[in-house]
Amino acid sequence: MGVKTLVLGAVAALRCVSAQDSVSFDLDTYGEGDASGTPYQTFRSNADAKPPQLQINKHETGLADGLVFIGVDGAPTSGQNWPTIWDFSPDRLGTLVWTGNYTEPFDFRTQTYRGEPVLTFWSGELLDGYGHGSYYILNQSYAEIAHFSAVGYEGLSDLHEFTITPDDTALVIVYTPKQADLSDVGGDQDGWIFECIFQEIGIDSGKLVFEWNASTHVGINETVNELGDAGSEGSPFDYFHMNSVLKDADGDYLVSGRVMDAVFKVSRSGDIIWRLGGKQSDFDVADDAVFAFQHDARWVDGNQTRMTIFDNGPTAAVGYSRGLLFDVDQHAKTVRLIREFHNGAKTFAKFEGSLQVLDPSSSNTNYLLGYGNQPFLAEFSPNGTLLLDAQFGATNAVNGYRTYKLPWTGKPTARPDIHLDADARTAYVSWNGATEVRRWDVYSADATNGTWRYAASAKRTGFETSVDLGGVRLGGYVRARAVGERGDALRWSRATDGKGMFDAEGDVDEGRNITSSSAVSTTAKATGSSAAGSKATVAASASAASGLAVRIGRGVVEKVVVAVVAVALV
Ligand SMILES: *[C@@H]1O[C@H](CO)[C@@H](O)[C@H](O)[C@H]1NC(C)=O
Ligand SMILES: *[C@@H]1O[C@H](CO)[C@@H](O)[C@H](O)[C@H]1NC(C)=O
Ligand SMILES: *[C@@H]1O[C@H](CO)[C@@H](O)[C@H](O)[C@H]1NC(C)=O
Ligand SMILES: *[C@@H]1O[C@H](CO)[C@@H](O)[C@H](O)[C@H]1NC(C)=O
Ligand SMILES: *[C@@H]1O[C@H](CO)[C@@H](O)[C@H](O)[C@H]1NC(C)=O
Ligand SMILES: *[C@@H]1O[C@H](CO)[C@@H](O)[C@H](O)[C@H]1NC(C)=O
Ligand SMILES: *[C@@H]1O[C@H](CO)[C@@H](O)[C@H](O)[C@H]1NC(C)=O
Ligand SMILES: *[C@@H]1O[C@H](CO)[C@@H](O)[C@H](O)[C@H]1NC(C)=O
Repeated sequence: MGVKTLVLGAVAALRCVSAQDSVSFDLDTYGEGDASGTPYQTFRSNADAKPPQLQINKHETGLADGLVFIGVDGAPTSGQNWPTIWDFSPDRLGTLVWTGNYTEPFDFRTQTYRGEPVLTFWSGELLDGYGHGSYYILNQSYAEIAHFSAVGYEGLSDLHEFTITPDDTALVIVYTPKQADLSDVGGDQDGWIFECIFQEIGIDSGKLVFEWNASTHVGINETVNELGDAGSEGSPFDYFHMNSVLKDADGDYLVSGRVMDAVFKVSRSGDIIWRLGGKQSDFDVADDAVFAFQHDARWVDGNQTRMTIFDNGPTAAVGYSRGLLFDVDQHAKTVRLIREFHNGAKTFAKFEGSLQVLDPSSSNTNYLLGYGNQPFLAEFSPNGTLLLDAQFGATNAVNGYRTYKLPWTGKPTARPDIHLDADARTAYVSWNGATEVRRWDVYSADATNGTWRYAASAKRTGFETSVDLGGVRLGGYVRARAVGERGDALRWSRATDGKGMFDAEGDVDEGRNITSSSAVSTTAKATGSSAAGSKATVAASASAASGLAVRIGRGVVEKVVVAVVAVALV
């Protein structure tokens, strides 16, 4: 396994992959691992979507259902700063489903709010290890239905957590400067720390339900961070670094303090019930379960017997980052390692990262590992076998705070998009965020208000699908209709003549049964030439199958890793 030391630094010119749904299966995209650019895709039908190109180093059968959620946070020069949803189903492996204009998204995922599936994330200004922003909730149509901040800390809402509880309250974090005695860590008595606060907020009421301040309960002497030049009002000492909070089935809170090397269980009265890890651990943590600078501490089960954590590391014993699944006995106060998860390449993620149990109700579950500040994700089978190893950016240029795989049905209110390349006799269609499209039917008319006749179809191949119109008698205008899994007509695009976009009127001459499962290869009677129509639609199907610009030659996979093993305090 080759090891390359990477230089943290600026991203130079970007490489643009100008092709629909370009997915690479070899090292051409990211193999060099330098930060000289992070390739992104462009689409003909949607000029706004510029997601990273995925590189799939390994993929096996047995991947769990669901879509993958990555809040892409690139260096400012990377052009990669939007939330993204990805499809890893066999037919569309590594293709985009949705992206939207919200910069620096953190903790991007689906949750349940008012009984409905929603998209949630933080967006705002990314500062040095924390953020100033606010929290967004979008419904299944990608419309904003809630947007709020921490209570009493307008502008200071931090990026590390946005969990919605079953009571429709939100758990969020605030970093705010506070005066403190730093003599325990060799600083001034009148120094400054970052107070880390978590709040539980009623999303509908906007009312504070609960608030907890780390400094009231956790001594500065418990930190493993070094003071360095910090400790002034302008540069407070980040002694705790709160980075995950959840509420358990008993109503207590599980809080991760990164530079404590510890997870805290906090009661509703604010008292600390126990510390797991760190300088004052109440638990006997088995040697192979010791973690450092961790992220994303979660209970797996309602009975709180299993916990997951992303161990950024490195401890002296472990020189790479990994996901950890623990057996936690709160009575005997023991922590045992059940399994560790890593991509086999000794990838070191200095900060950020996540481990998700994809089906918490079953031990026969897959696991998803997000490498945080390194743009890798990996899925594992129940016994820990690596099933998927993918990369979504140049190392050190792009990161994803937490990566999730979750079920999601998107029903955008915006219309599908279409671009006609009249010379190439190809229509390009997409529908940002729509998950229910099985195929695209293209219709043609002599005028925008003329009679629309069926021209050709293609199975949805990814974010953008090309429909071959070669051999089809076309009028001057085309438009496309999305068709769902059951042959149900979903929505029309606007009409185009290849130059402008127009509202279409006029009748639709179906000329065939669109719910028929064989519709893709059915003769298009309405074209006036059934033989030509038939040939054209068959051609379109074939083209759809090969239209996905994938290169499936799998070269020697030499995973890029960061060889710098340093104590990470960010
Ligand atoms: C994204 O939103 C910003 C702020 O509203 C706007 O300036 C920018 O043009 C938008 N970008 C795109 C591609 O829509
Ligand atoms: C989402 O919210 C928008 C705006 O309120 C509304 O028009 C749309 O119907 C909602 N979509 C769903 C799926 O609830
Ligand atoms: C937390 O700290 C802030 C800032 O020092 C203070 O305003 C607030 O009252 C504290 N809250 C609790 C619950 O201690
Ligand atoms: C920190 O200080 C408190 C209060 O003096 C003490 O009880 C605790 O043991 C100290 N912890 C460490 C790790 O030194
Ligand atoms: C907790 O454990 C009990 C006994 O093993 C089991 O019946 C129950 O389903 C578990 N509850 C949860 C929420 O996991
Ligand atoms: C683990 O699961 C994989 C399938 O995901 C299987 O191929 C492999 O044989 C299993 N290994 C063991 C040790 O059970
Ligand atoms: C269609 O539009 C053209 C140009 O605007 C107009 O001349 C014609 O009358 C319209 N035809 C119908 C059937 O509305
Ligand atoms: C259209 O095709 C579907 C599926 O093949 C069939 O169930 C339905 O009866 C057909 N409808 C008509 C009007 O032929």
